[in-house]
Amino acid sequence: MLDQADPEMDLRALVEESEDFTVDTRVYTSPAIFDAEMRRIFLRTWVYVGHESEIPNPGDFRTSAVGRVPVIVTRDQTGAFHVLVNTCRHRGTVVCREERGNARFFQCPYHNWLYRNDGRLVQIPDSSGYPEGWAGRIGGLLEAPRIAVLYGMIFANFSQAGPSFDEYLGPLRRYVEYWFGHSPTGRVQVLAPFRASYPGNWKLQVENSTDGWHARYVHESALRTMHHFGTRSPAVGWPGATRAFPSGHGVLERPRDDLPPEVQPQFESFRSLLAETYGAEHAEAMFVRRQITLFPSFHLMEFKFRVIQPVAVDQTVIYEFPVRLEGVPDDVNAAILHRITREISISSGGPVSSFVNADDVEAFARVQSGLADSPVERIYFSRGLHREVIAPDGERTGESSDELPQRSIYREWRRLMHE
Ligand code: FES
Ligand SMILES: [Fe+2]
Repeated sequence: MLDQADPEMDLRALVEESEDFTVDTRVYTSPAIFDAEMRRIFLRTWVYVGHESEIPNPGDFRTSAVGRVPVIVTRDQTGAFHVLVNTCRHRGTVVCREERGNARFFQCPYHNWLYRNDGRLVQIPDSSGYPEGWAGRIGGLLEAPRIAVLYGMIFANFSQAGPSFDEYLGPLRRYVEYWFGHSPTGRVQVLAPFRASYPGNWKLQVENSTDGWHARYVHESALRTMHHFGTRSPAVGWPGATRAFPSGHGVLERPRDDLPPEVQPQFESFRSLLAETYGAEHAEAMFVRRQITLFPSFHLMEFKFRVIQPVAVDQTVIYEFPVRLEGVPDDVNAAILHRITREISISSGGPVSSFVNADDVEAFARVQSGLADSPVERIYFSRGLHREVIAPDGERTGESSDELPQRSIYREWRRLMHE
Protein backbone atom coordinates (compact mmCIF):
# COMPACT_ATOMS: atom_id res chain seq x y z
CA MET A 1 0.00 0.00 0.00
CA LEU A 2 2.85 2.31 0.86
CA ASP A 3 4.52 1.60 -2.44
CA GLN A 4 1.27 2.25 -4.31
CA ALA A 5 0.67 5.45 -2.38
CA ASP A 6 4.05 6.89 -3.17
CA PRO A 7 6.24 4.78 -5.43
CA GLU A 8 8.97 7.39 -5.21
CA MET A 9 9.39 7.10 -1.47
CA ASP A 10 12.75 5.63 -0.52
CA LEU A 11 12.05 3.81 2.73
CA ARG A 12 15.68 3.51 3.72
CA ALA A 13 16.16 7.25 3.41
CA LEU A 14 13.45 7.92 5.98
CA VAL A 15 16.07 7.22 8.65
CA GLU A 16 19.60 8.42 7.98
CA GLU A 17 22.69 7.95 10.03
CA SER A 18 25.94 9.67 9.17
CA GLU A 19 27.42 12.52 11.18
CA ASP A 20 23.82 13.22 12.21
CA PHE A 21 20.96 10.87 12.94
CA THR A 22 17.83 12.18 11.28
CA VAL A 23 14.31 10.96 10.64
CA ASP A 24 11.96 12.09 7.89
CA THR A 25 8.96 13.83 9.46
CA ARG A 26 6.56 11.81 7.30
CA VAL A 27 7.11 8.87 9.67
CA TYR A 28 4.78 10.75 12.04
CA THR A 29 2.29 12.15 9.56
CA SER A 30 1.87 9.84 6.56
CA PRO A 31 -1.17 7.51 6.73
CA ALA A 32 0.53 5.30 4.12
CA ILE A 33 3.61 4.89 6.31
CA PHE A 34 1.38 4.18 9.30
CA ASP A 35 -0.43 1.43 7.38
CA ALA A 36 2.90 -0.04 6.34
CA GLU A 37 4.15 0.02 9.94
CA MET A 38 1.14 -1.96 11.10
CA ARG A 39 1.98 -4.73 8.62
CA ARG A 40 5.75 -4.62 8.31
CA ILE A 41 6.57 -4.01 11.95
CA PHE A 42 3.71 -5.20 14.13
CA LEU A 43 2.94 -8.33 12.12
CA ARG A 44 6.60 -9.30 11.75
CA THR A 45 8.09 -8.95 15.20
CA TRP A 46 7.33 -9.92 18.80
CA VAL A 47 4.54 -7.86 20.33
CA TYR A 48 3.41 -7.88 23.96
CA VAL A 49 -0.26 -8.90 24.27
CA GLY A 50 -0.82 -9.55 27.98
CA HIS A 51 0.46 -11.13 31.16
CA GLU A 52 -0.32 -14.58 32.49
CA SER A 53 -1.48 -13.14 35.83
CA GLU A 54 -4.37 -11.54 33.94
CA ILE A 55 -5.57 -14.97 32.80
CA PRO A 56 -4.57 -17.32 35.63
CA ASN A 57 -7.25 -20.01 35.18
CA PRO A 58 -8.34 -22.28 32.32
CA GLY A 59 -10.91 -20.43 30.23
CA ASP A 60 -9.66 -16.96 31.23
CA PHE A 61 -9.19 -14.47 28.44
CA ARG A 62 -8.41 -10.83 27.79
CA THR A 63 -8.72 -8.88 24.58
CA SER A 64 -5.73 -7.00 23.25
CA ALA A 65 -4.21 -5.98 19.92
CA VAL A 66 -1.18 -6.52 17.73
CA GLY A 67 -0.84 -3.22 15.93
CA ARG A 68 -4.42 -2.72 14.84
CA VAL A 69 -5.27 -6.41 14.69
CA PRO A 70 -7.73 -7.14 17.50
CA VAL A 71 -6.86 -10.33 19.37
CA ILE A 72 -8.19 -12.49 22.18
CA VAL A 73 -5.49 -13.86 24.48
CA THR A 74 -6.85 -17.07 25.97
CA ARG A 75 -5.86 -19.83 28.32
CA ASP A 76 -7.58 -22.96 27.06
CA GLN A 77 -8.93 -25.82 29.17
CA THR A 78 -5.49 -27.50 29.15
CA GLY A 79 -3.83 -24.29 30.39
CA ALA A 80 -2.15 -23.45 27.06
CA PHE A 81 -2.09 -19.86 25.77
CA HIS A 82 -3.50 -18.80 22.40
CA VAL A 83 -3.47 -15.44 20.67
CA LEU A 84 -6.54 -15.51 18.41
CA VAL A 85 -7.55 -12.93 15.85
CA ASN A 86 -10.81 -11.49 17.13
CA THR A 87 -12.47 -11.54 13.72
CA CYS A 88 -15.19 -14.01 12.81
CA ARG A 89 -14.20 -16.29 9.93
CA HIS A 90 -17.73 -16.07 8.51
CA ARG A 91 -18.17 -12.42 7.59
CA GLY A 92 -15.73 -10.61 9.80
CA THR A 93 -17.57 -9.49 12.93
CA VAL A 94 -15.54 -8.81 16.08
CA VAL A 95 -16.38 -11.93 18.06
CA CYS A 96 -15.56 -10.90 21.64
CA ARG A 97 -16.26 -7.39 22.92
CA GLU A 98 -15.35 -7.98 26.57
CA GLU A 99 -12.04 -6.76 27.99
CA ARG A 100 -11.64 -9.78 30.24
CA GLY A 101 -13.57 -12.82 31.36
CA ASN A 102 -13.78 -16.58 31.47
CA ALA A 103 -15.37 -18.59 28.69
CA ARG A 104 -15.05 -22.05 27.17
CA PHE A 105 -16.55 -20.75 23.93
CA PHE A 106 -16.85 -17.50 22.01
CA GLN A 107 -20.02 -17.02 20.01
CA CYS A 108 -20.14 -14.54 17.17
CA PRO A 109 -23.19 -12.30 17.68
CA TYR A 110 -24.04 -12.02 13.98
CA HIS A 111 -24.93 -15.61 12.90
CA ASN A 112 -23.89 -17.47 16.06
CA TRP A 113 -20.85 -19.32 14.80
CA LEU A 114 -19.28 -20.87 17.87
CA TYR A 115 -15.54 -21.08 18.57
CA ARG A 116 -13.80 -22.95 21.37
CA ASN A 117 -11.35 -20.97 23.52
CA ASP A 118 -8.47 -22.55 21.61
CA GLY A 119 -9.93 -20.94 18.48
CA ARG A 120 -11.45 -23.99 16.82
CA LEU A 121 -14.78 -23.53 15.04
CA VAL A 122 -17.04 -26.10 16.70
CA GLN A 123 -20.55 -25.21 15.62
CA ILE A 124 -22.44 -23.48 12.82
CA PRO A 125 -26.20 -23.10 13.35
CA ASP A 126 -28.20 -25.27 10.93
CA SER A 127 -25.05 -26.57 9.32
CA SER A 128 -27.13 -28.45 6.72
CA GLY A 129 -26.74 -25.29 4.66
CA TYR A 130 -23.19 -26.41 3.97
CA PRO A 131 -21.73 -29.60 2.53
CA GLU A 132 -20.60 -32.27 4.99
CA GLY A 133 -17.29 -31.36 6.67
CA TRP A 134 -17.37 -27.74 5.51
CA ALA A 135 -16.71 -26.26 8.96
CA GLY A 136 -13.59 -28.39 9.27
CA ARG A 137 -12.17 -26.70 6.18
CA ILE A 138 -12.53 -23.31 7.87
CA GLY A 139 -10.70 -24.51 10.97
CA GLY A 140 -11.32 -21.63 13.32
CA LEU A 141 -10.16 -18.19 14.34
CA LEU A 142 -6.78 -17.25 12.92
CA GLU A 143 -4.03 -17.65 15.46
CA ALA A 144 -0.58 -16.16 15.99
CA PRO A 145 1.77 -18.95 14.90
CA ARG A 146 4.41 -18.07 17.48
CA ILE A 147 4.02 -17.21 21.15
CA ALA A 148 6.71 -16.66 23.78
CA VAL A 149 6.34 -16.21 27.53
CA LEU A 150 8.96 -14.47 29.66
CA TYR A 151 8.33 -13.73 33.34
CA GLY A 152 4.66 -14.23 32.54
CA MET A 153 4.70 -11.64 29.75
CA ILE A 154 3.03 -13.08 26.66
CA PHE A 155 4.43 -12.02 23.30
CA ALA A 156 2.90 -12.94 19.94
CA ASN A 157 4.51 -13.02 16.54
CA PHE A 158 2.29 -13.25 13.46
CA SER A 159 5.20 -14.22 11.26
CA GLN A 160 6.76 -17.67 11.09
CA ALA A 161 9.92 -16.10 9.73
CA GLY A 162 12.37 -13.88 11.55
CA PRO A 163 14.28 -14.10 14.81
CA SER A 164 13.26 -16.41 17.64
CA PHE A 165 12.15 -14.66 20.82
CA ASP A 166 15.55 -15.32 22.41
CA GLU A 167 17.31 -13.75 19.45
CA TYR A 168 14.91 -10.81 19.54
CA LEU A 169 15.58 -10.25 23.24
CA GLY A 170 19.36 -10.62 22.86
CA PRO A 171 21.56 -8.88 25.43
CA LEU A 172 18.57 -6.92 26.76
CA ARG A 173 17.71 -10.07 28.73
CA ARG A 174 20.06 -9.09 31.55
CA TYR A 175 18.18 -5.85 32.19
CA VAL A 176 14.79 -7.55 32.01
CA GLU A 177 16.12 -9.99 34.62
CA TYR A 178 17.14 -7.09 36.85
CA TRP A 179 13.68 -5.59 36.49
CA PHE A 180 11.80 -8.76 37.40
CA GLY A 181 14.42 -9.62 40.03
CA HIS A 182 12.78 -7.01 42.25
CA SER A 183 10.46 -9.90 43.01
CA PRO A 184 12.56 -12.58 44.75
CA THR A 185 10.47 -15.19 42.92
CA GLY A 186 10.63 -13.32 39.60
CA ARG A 187 6.85 -13.21 39.53
CA VAL A 188 4.54 -10.21 39.38
CA GLN A 189 0.82 -9.68 39.33
CA VAL A 190 -0.47 -7.14 36.86
CA LEU A 191 -3.13 -4.78 38.25
CA ALA A 192 -5.86 -2.84 36.43
CA PRO A 193 -4.49 -0.23 34.01
CA PHE A 194 -4.57 3.53 33.79
CA ARG A 195 -5.41 4.73 30.29
CA ALA A 196 -4.91 7.90 28.32
CA SER A 197 -5.01 8.88 24.69
CA TYR A 198 -3.36 11.64 22.73
CA PRO A 199 -3.66 13.18 19.28
CA GLY A 200 -0.25 12.12 18.06
CA ASN A 201 1.73 9.32 16.48
CA TRP A 202 2.42 6.16 18.51
CA LYS A 203 6.21 6.49 18.20
CA LEU A 204 6.19 9.78 20.13
CA GLN A 205 5.40 7.90 23.35
CA VAL A 206 7.73 5.03 22.47
CA GLU A 207 10.61 7.51 22.03
CA ASN A 208 9.68 9.34 25.21
CA SER A 209 9.65 6.34 27.57
CA THR A 210 13.47 6.20 27.53
CA ASP A 211 14.08 9.93 26.95
CA GLY A 212 16.30 11.08 29.81
CA TRP A 213 16.68 14.57 28.46
CA HIS A 214 13.20 16.08 28.46
CA ALA A 215 12.10 15.63 32.07
CA ARG A 216 13.68 18.63 33.71
CA TYR A 217 12.31 20.92 31.01
CA VAL A 218 8.85 19.74 30.06
CA HIS A 219 8.11 18.56 33.60
CA GLU A 220 9.66 21.55 35.32
CA SER A 221 6.48 22.64 37.10
CA ALA A 222 5.80 19.11 38.37
CA LEU A 223 9.38 18.71 39.57
CA ARG A 224 9.32 22.08 41.32
CA THR A 225 6.16 21.00 43.08
CA MET A 226 7.93 17.82 44.18
CA HIS A 227 10.82 19.91 45.43
CA HIS A 228 8.42 22.17 47.30
CA PHE A 229 7.11 19.16 49.20
CA GLY A 230 10.64 18.01 49.94
CA THR A 231 10.41 14.78 47.98
CA ARG A 232 12.82 15.52 45.21
CA SER A 233 15.96 17.55 44.82
CA PRO A 234 16.56 19.69 41.76
CA ALA A 235 18.33 17.75 39.03
CA VAL A 236 22.09 18.19 38.93
CA GLY A 237 24.15 16.71 36.11
CA TRP A 238 23.01 13.61 34.27
CA PRO A 239 23.44 10.60 36.56
CA GLY A 240 22.66 7.19 35.12
CA ALA A 241 23.00 5.90 31.58
CA THR A 242 21.23 5.03 28.39
CA ARG A 243 21.63 1.69 26.68
CA ALA A 244 20.62 0.50 23.25
CA PHE A 245 20.41 -2.96 21.75
CA PRO A 246 19.84 -4.70 18.46
CA SER A 247 16.13 -5.31 17.66
CA GLY A 248 15.18 -1.76 18.67
CA HIS A 249 15.33 -2.16 22.43
CA GLY A 250 16.66 0.44 24.85
CA VAL A 251 17.12 1.30 28.51
CA LEU A 252 17.16 4.53 30.49
CA GLU A 253 18.59 4.05 33.94
CA ARG A 254 18.88 6.51 36.77
CA PRO A 255 19.47 6.27 40.50
CA ARG A 256 16.33 5.65 42.51
CA ASP A 257 16.88 8.94 44.33
CA ASP A 258 13.36 10.32 44.15
CA LEU A 259 11.64 8.29 46.86
CA PRO A 260 9.21 10.26 48.99
CA PRO A 261 10.15 10.33 52.71
CA GLU A 262 7.03 8.47 53.81
CA VAL A 263 8.04 5.31 51.93
CA GLN A 264 11.80 5.41 52.44
CA PRO A 265 11.74 2.96 55.40
CA GLN A 266 9.84 0.38 53.33
CA PHE A 267 12.21 0.84 50.40
CA GLU A 268 15.20 0.39 52.74
CA SER A 269 13.82 -2.92 53.99
CA PHE A 270 13.05 -3.85 50.37
CA ARG A 271 16.66 -3.17 49.47
CA SER A 272 17.89 -5.31 52.38
CA LEU A 273 15.60 -8.13 51.30
CA LEU A 274 17.11 -8.03 47.81
CA ALA A 275 20.64 -7.98 49.25
CA GLU A 276 19.82 -11.09 51.31
CA THR A 277 18.32 -12.77 48.27
CA TYR A 278 20.99 -11.98 45.69
CA GLY A 279 24.04 -10.72 47.58
CA ALA A 280 24.88 -7.05 48.04
CA GLU A 281 26.64 -6.49 44.74
CA HIS A 282 23.95 -7.97 42.53
CA ALA A 283 21.24 -6.21 44.53
CA GLU A 284 22.98 -2.85 44.02
CA ALA A 285 23.10 -3.43 40.26
CA MET A 286 19.41 -4.28 40.30
CA PHE A 287 18.16 -1.56 42.60
CA VAL A 288 18.21 1.10 39.93
CA ARG A 289 15.32 2.83 38.29
CA ARG A 290 15.18 1.33 34.79
CA GLN A 291 12.80 2.18 31.97
CA ILE A 292 13.10 -0.47 29.32
CA THR A 293 11.74 -0.48 25.77
CA LEU A 294 10.92 -3.77 24.13
CA PHE A 295 10.45 -2.65 20.56
CA PRO A 296 7.99 -1.86 19.13
CA SER A 297 5.40 -0.90 21.75
CA PHE A 298 6.07 -2.21 25.25
CA HIS A 299 7.93 -0.69 28.18
CA LEU A 300 8.89 -1.84 31.63
CA MET A 301 8.65 1.36 33.68
CA GLU A 302 9.11 1.99 37.43
CA PHE A 303 7.00 -0.94 38.75
CA LYS A 304 4.60 -0.61 35.83
CA PHE A 305 4.09 -2.02 32.36
CA ARG A 306 3.41 0.61 29.71
CA VAL A 307 1.70 -0.53 26.51
CA ILE A 308 1.38 1.73 23.48
CA GLN A 309 -1.60 1.12 21.24
CA PRO A 310 -1.49 2.78 17.80
CA VAL A 311 -4.96 3.82 16.63
CA ALA A 312 -4.28 6.02 13.60
CA VAL A 313 -1.30 7.95 12.29
CA ASP A 314 -2.16 10.79 14.70
CA GLN A 315 -4.03 8.93 17.44
CA THR A 316 -2.63 6.73 20.20
CA VAL A 317 -3.77 5.09 23.43
CA ILE A 318 -1.43 4.48 26.39
CA TYR A 319 -2.08 1.81 29.02
CA GLU A 320 -0.12 1.62 32.24
CA PHE A 321 -0.44 -1.45 34.43
CA PRO A 322 1.00 -1.21 37.96
CA VAL A 323 2.49 -4.49 39.17
CA ARG A 324 2.43 -6.20 42.53
CA LEU A 325 5.63 -8.08 43.34
CA GLU A 326 5.37 -11.63 44.59
CA GLY A 327 7.63 -12.62 47.51
CA VAL A 328 7.92 -9.18 49.14
CA PRO A 329 6.06 -8.05 52.28
CA ASP A 330 2.70 -6.35 51.89
CA ASP A 331 4.00 -3.06 53.27
CA VAL A 332 6.62 -2.96 50.51
CA ASN A 333 3.98 -3.54 47.84
CA ALA A 334 1.86 -0.85 49.47
CA ALA A 335 4.84 1.54 49.39
CA ILE A 336 5.44 0.74 45.72
CA LEU A 337 1.81 1.36 44.88
CA HIS A 338 1.88 4.59 46.87
CA ARG A 339 4.96 5.68 44.96
CA ILE A 340 3.51 5.02 41.54
CA THR A 341 -0.08 6.06 42.11
CA ARG A 342 0.24 9.07 44.39
CA GLU A 343 3.68 10.43 45.02
CA ILE A 344 5.05 9.74 41.59
CA SER A 345 1.94 11.12 39.98
CA ILE A 346 3.70 14.46 40.22
CA SER A 347 7.09 12.97 39.51
CA SER A 348 8.81 11.66 36.44
CA GLY A 349 7.41 8.48 34.95
CA GLY A 350 4.12 8.67 36.80
CA PRO A 351 0.88 7.03 35.84
CA VAL A 352 -0.89 8.31 32.80
CA SER A 353 -3.40 10.20 34.91
CA SER A 354 -0.67 12.38 36.35
CA PHE A 355 0.62 15.91 35.83
CA VAL A 356 3.69 14.40 34.30
CA ASN A 357 1.80 12.46 31.70
CA ALA A 358 -0.24 15.55 30.90
CA ASP A 359 3.04 17.38 30.16
CA ASP A 360 4.21 14.58 27.91
CA VAL A 361 1.02 14.15 25.92
CA GLU A 362 0.82 17.92 25.46
CA ALA A 363 4.33 17.77 24.01
CA PHE A 364 3.31 14.89 21.71
CA ALA A 365 0.26 16.81 20.48
CA ARG A 366 2.47 19.84 19.80
CA VAL A 367 4.93 17.72 17.84
CA GLN A 368 2.08 16.31 15.78
CA SER A 369 0.66 19.74 14.99
CA GLY A 370 4.16 21.17 14.53
CA LEU A 371 4.90 18.63 11.83
CA ALA A 372 1.58 18.65 10.00
CA ASP A 373 2.16 20.34 6.64
CA SER A 374 5.40 21.82 7.91
CA PRO A 375 8.31 22.53 5.59
CA VAL A 376 10.57 20.91 8.22
CA GLU A 377 11.49 17.65 6.51
CA ARG A 378 13.82 16.00 8.99
CA ILE A 379 14.21 15.94 12.76
CA TYR A 380 17.31 15.10 14.80
CA PHE A 381 18.21 12.29 17.18
CA SER A 382 21.92 13.14 17.23
CA ARG A 383 22.50 13.84 20.91
CA GLY A 384 25.42 11.68 22.07
CA LEU A 385 25.93 10.06 18.66
CA HIS A 386 29.64 10.90 18.81
CA ARG A 387 30.12 9.20 22.17
CA GLU A 388 28.25 5.90 21.74
CA VAL A 389 30.28 3.01 23.13
CA ILE A 390 29.58 -0.30 21.36
CA ALA A 391 30.25 -3.65 23.07
CA PRO A 392 30.99 -6.85 21.10
CA ASP A 393 27.47 -8.20 21.77
CA GLY A 394 25.94 -5.10 20.17
CA GLU A 395 25.00 -3.26 23.38
CA ARG A 396 25.60 0.47 23.09
CA THR A 397 26.02 2.75 26.09
CA GLY A 398 25.61 6.49 26.43
CA GLU A 399 24.95 9.21 28.95
CA SER A 400 21.49 9.43 30.46
CA SER A 401 20.49 12.44 28.37
CA ASP A 402 21.65 10.90 25.07
CA GLU A 403 19.18 10.04 22.34
CA LEU A 404 20.68 6.58 22.17
CA PRO A 405 17.54 4.48 22.81
CA GLN A 406 15.68 6.57 20.23
CA ARG A 407 18.32 5.78 17.60
CA SER A 408 17.94 2.13 18.46
CA ILE A 409 14.19 2.36 17.81
CA TYR A 410 14.72 3.91 14.39
CA ARG A 411 17.51 1.56 13.33
CA GLU A 412 15.17 -1.38 13.84
CA TRP A 413 12.24 0.56 12.39
CA ARG A 414 14.20 1.11 9.20
CA ARG A 415 15.29 -2.52 9.00
CA LEU A 416 11.76 -3.87 9.36
CA MET A 417 10.17 -1.29 7.08
CA HIS A 418 12.72 -1.79 4.35
CA GLU A 419 13.31 -5.54 4.34
S1 FES B 1 -20.14 -12.91 10.90
FE1 FES B 1 -19.78 -14.20 12.57
S2 FES B 1 -21.29 -15.69 12.39
FE2 FES B 1 -21.61 -14.45 10.67
FE1 LIG C 1 8.02 12.64 30.49
